[in-house]
Amino acid sequence: MRTENRVLCSLIFFLTFFIAFNVVNGEDPYRFFTWKVTSGPIYPMGIRQQGILINGQFPGPKIDTVTNDNLIISVYNYLTEPFLITWNGIQQRRNSWQDGVYGTNCPIPPGKNFTYALQMKDQIGSFFYFPSLGMHKAAGGFGGINIYSRPRIPVPFPHPAGDFTLLAGDWFKRSPRVLKAILDSGHNLPFPDGLLINGQGWNGNTFTVNQGQTYRFRISNVGLATSINFRIQGHTMKLIEVEGSHTLQSMYTSLDIHLGQSYSVLVTANQRPWDYYITVSSRFTKPVLTTTAILHYSNSWGKVSGPPPGGPTVQIDSSLSQARSIRWNLTASGPRPNPQGSYHYGMIKPSRTIRLANNAPVINGKQRYAVNGVSFVPADTPLKIADYYNIQGVFGVGSIPDSPTWGSGYLKTSVMHADFRSYIEIVFENWEDTVQSWHIDGHSFFVMGMDGGQWSQSSRLRYNLRDTVARSTVQVYPKSWTAIYMALDNVGMWNIRSQDWARQYLGQQFYLRVYSSAHSWRDEYPIPRNALLCGRAFHRRTRPL
Ligand SMILES: *[C@@H]1O[C@H](CO)[C@@H](O)[C@H](O)[C@H]1NC(C)=O
Ligand SMILES: *[C@@H]1O[C@H](CO)[C@@H](O)[C@H](O)[C@H]1NC(C)=O
Repeated sequence: MRTENRVLCSLIFFLTFFIAFNVVNGEDPYRFFTWKVTSGPIYPMGIRQQGILINGQFPGPKIDTVTNDNLIISVYNYLTEPFLITWNGIQQRRNSWQDGVYGTNCPIPPGKNFTYALQMKDQIGSFFYFPSLGMHKAAGGFGGINIYSRPRIPVPFPHPAGDFTLLAGDWFKRSPRVLKAILDSGHNLPFPDGLLINGQGWNGNTFTVNQGQTYRFRISNVGLATSINFRIQGHTMKLIEVEGSHTLQSMYTSLDIHLGQSYSVLVTANQRPWDYYITVSSRFTKPVLTTTAILHYSNSWGKVSGPPPGGPTVQIDSSLSQARSIRWNLTASGPRPNPQGSYHYGMIKPSRTIRLANNAPVINGKQRYAVNGVSFVPADTPLKIADYYNIQGVFGVGSIPDSPTWGSGYLKTSVMHADFRSYIEIVFENWEDTVQSWHIDGHSFFVMGMDGGQWSQSSRLRYNLRDTVARSTVQVYPKSWTAIYMALDNVGMWNIRSQDWARQYLGQQFYLRVYSSAHSWRDEYPIPRNALLCGRAFHRRTRPL
């Protein structure tokens, strides 16, 4: 082909995708995926369960991608129920249309397909995806997302000899349908039946290493209900990354990973050639659940024996001090060549403080979970879509207060207003006696501080204004608070939710409508042409060609 023709062809190619998926930057590479979502037998705890498989796999396929890559993921739903996937920690700039939660997307009906177009814009690090509807997450359908740095961007550690993804978390023998029925009848979930690592129980996974070499382990808590602790027998771990932030590289013997969080550590195989336990145990639970995988030296002389190494269980202080020790490496690059620390987050004054308290009201005789007294109920139409077509009566902006209210709880499709480009402070207040885990879609935020007791203005005096990490999921200890700063740099309808899946399902979530009056494509993409329409938007049309 002559050069001009080739140029013309690629131009047409990119224009087609531009038109079809609103993807703007045609210079960034595209990666295409076809995912067939089916129900099939899995045996994670020795008994047969119906799992949610992606291309026959449980967990689903791992996505390896690079900063700014465009992912075009066609999802075919062969389940008998509607289905959606959400991308935990992937920001989807200007594009909450792709977020895959019920407030932004119509579910993919059984037998139908939907093509997501995501860009890994200005992100690096370790994340995961999971099914967002009902209790589907309890049946699998999750997988890792690793975003590598672009070739010319410095990474603050030598290239590891291997890169392992571990999706760990609690597991239930009951099906999503049964779990959902338990929740619908107004009860919390039963205690989990066990823990899994990459879909397998005791010693179900083996990670093989060569003596003397260093490996990256990316660990995410994909469970529904419990924080976990991660450790490797006889080895220390060097923490390098938390949900897209390169950290000060400190050594840990074990790491607490709360619901929905992701961490990367480097582990050097510097012990005698043997097999060692990789251990995950539940945190803050009685009894303590434990599971293991194997770290196998390729020249190993012997197998694991005896009990796996113990770790912290119900102690909160050690978890809190570990959380405080996790800090940003100011001189390391993030997704861009300039150092992460060149963004002086602590020098910016937030223009607004939002205080969010979790509570567990009984409403109409049923157990619900709420934020500032409001227990979220889904509307008949995704909020983003109702907003776009200006369909009245689906939700009201301002339907959740900015600070805790101490009345009995009520049900509402709660949406909070926020101004695009504002810089806000959010204080999560936890007056219950269980650990909470909060996630914000579309953004990453700075963890300014956390402590026991009631937050007050003077708590700000102890904020870390210099080198805390930016992340997308943060824990709040019992009878404690956690404060964050966040730049609202992403227009859209963004889910703020408990990562405890029963709490989320029973109302502990709401949407933050980050709004720009400019209505410019520079700030937010228009509705994708392939958007599914449902509810009161069913008869609308997406944009004409
Ligand atoms: C998905 O389904 C639509 C009809 O709903 C069809 O036009 C399209 O070709 C299918 N495939 C993909 C990859 O979107
Ligand atoms: C921080 O990052 C730099 C790379 O810019 C690296 O050389 C240094 O070792 C890192 N420091 C720590 C404490 O992790």
